[in-house]
Amino acid sequence: MCGIAGCFSEKGCYEKLLRTLRRLEYRGYDSAGIALLRKNRPRGGYGFSVRKKRGYVSALDGTRLSGSTGIGHTRWATHGAPSDVNAHPHVAGKFALVHNGIVENYAALREELTAAGETFVSETDSEVIVRLVSRCYKGDFFAAVRDACARLEGSYAVAVLCTDFPGEIVCARKKSPLVAAAGKNALYVCSDVPALAGEAEFFCPAGDGEFIRIAGGKIFLCDGDGKEIERPFVRLAAQSALPEKGEGSFMEKEIAEIPQALADTLKSLRRTDFAPCARPLRGAKRLFAVACGTAYHAALALRDMVEEEVKIPVLCHTASEFRYRGPLIGEGDVLVAISQSGETADTLEAARGAKERGAYVVAVTNAAHSSLAALADFSLLLHAGPEIAVAATKSYVCQLLCAWYLAAQTLFFKQTRLPAWFGELDRLPEAARAALGCDVSALAEQFSGARGMYFLGRGQDVVTAMEGALKVKEIAYIFAEGYAAGELKHGTLALVEEGFPVAAACTVRALAPKTCNALAEVKARGGVTVLLSQYRDLAAAADVFVALPPLPEPLMPAVAVIPLQKFACDMCRRRGYDPDKPRNLAKSVTVE
Ligand code: F6R
Repeated sequence: MCGIAGCFSEKGCYEKLLRTLRRLEYRGYDSAGIALLRKNRPRGGYGFSVRKKRGYVSALDGTRLSGSTGIGHTRWATHGAPSDVNAHPHVAGKFALVHNGIVENYAALREELTAAGETFVSETDSEVIVRLVSRCYKGDFFAAVRDACARLEGSYAVAVLCTDFPGEIVCARKKSPLVAAAGKNALYVCSDVPALAGEAEFFCPAGDGEFIRIAGGKIFLCDGDGKEIERPFVRLAAQSALPEKGEGSFMEKEIAEIPQALADTLKSLRRTDFAPCARPLRGAKRLFAVACGTAYHAALALRDMVEEEVKIPVLCHTASEFRYRGPLIGEGDVLVAISQSGETADTLEAARGAKERGAYVVAVTNAAHSSLAALADFSLLLHAGPEIAVAATKSYVCQLLCAWYLAAQTLFFKQTRLPAWFGELDRLPEAARAALGCDVSALAEQFSGARGMYFLGRGQDVVTAMEGALKVKEIAYIFAEGYAAGELKHGTLALVEEGFPVAAACTVRALAPKTCNALAEVKARGGVTVLLSQYRDLAAAADVFVALPPLPEPLMPAVAVIPLQKFACDMCRRRGYDPDKPRNLAKSVTVE
């Protein structure tokens, strides 16, 4: 999704912005641009140097633009196709602006501004903001931005330049993330902390509805009335830096990092003080869980574990639906919001809504300084390390671990005992390492030309099936369905014909006969079957058997998914695609 950056630096401002934009690339984008304030010679005064292009940040390389105050942007198209014209920054009169978010009332504003004489050059909602700022301007730059923002509905993080105020950048945020930062001889604003690694030494996230100003060689946060906010900047940890890709793709690298990510997350969980959430968890008669995409599958796994161990219901919702259902949540309820990035707009909104209704919010996130972590009453941190590939892999497995750990703590707070598997969590990293050894390349070769496939499971394996299908869809571009095996006969089976691939996960012994029956029904219709299980005696139930490393059954979803992640990645490669850059998708989905 869109990333924004701003920089004030007497030296190398353009290069600093370029480097920051490169580190925002992982969020997913289709065009990029930079604007710098430039001295007009010989007339005096200031104007803008703008370079913006459809395509990659590398398209902005070339002669550097001079100037010490600039803004930059990576755009993920929402309103208007990816093009040079729709790329940010947008300029109107004395102002240049970059924007991340969606202006929901942009059509009405555009109409109003057009009637007032503005001529729009792009199709974007963002151009509305810069024209609004220009109209609001009466000599006070900061006031103009505040007044313009007051007219906006939706979400935004903006950074604005004004030719009357060289050396100044005014930024605002509502819902979309924004961070202020300071480095040696340079001041920054940026959409996320990792993109500042190597540039800045200290940072401070802006809160919702707050502003960031760079002026007079200083950076400060302000509230909605323009009053300065006292908030300390914190040191940017070295581990915040984005990793190098090395050989292969980030996705392959991140799958290989799963054992370490699990070990690090477990270590951190063991050190986490759960005391602050003891009372809400002990008192909760039910839990709610919200998330999107892969993280939603982790939420389903939380549901499975809590219902099995704690025997209280968990109401699981995709975050985008939760808020529109008028959810029956309130005081005494606990909502668990799971998000790798901690910036997914739908998840944030769901968590906000739950909090407003009086619920206690627990965040499960990989980003300690994210908006979700800031909003939550309590945060459980994954220590998966930066996840750059769009497809979530190591973060998913760590989310499972956190979800189960939370289930165990809930049981402890309610019944002063821990689940039988709790002491076995230490075996997860080693089992994950063994699962990385599962060779699925022959399978990927066999199915890389398939037009569609099914993933089946029962009980806890349904979630693994859903996650396997999502991975295949998003990076191999093959239609796939993840399904409860028992549903096969209720419609899905109609599509099974000669050669149709169906993979099932079966990690619960008691459910094996039923899952194997489903595979038999597929085989009887000519389908090609694959079974993933730790129970080798089930091998004959499928055409191809993938042996999983054994663990206590409730923990098996953490290893069963790994061969499916590898399979999707391998299929993607064989079909000639880049696993790190799935079409149309973005890593950080900061708009609803
Ligand atoms: C799929 C994937 C997405 C994310 C989803 C939520 O591989 O990565 O489905 O899981 O967009 O993202 P976070 O966890 O950052 O809220």
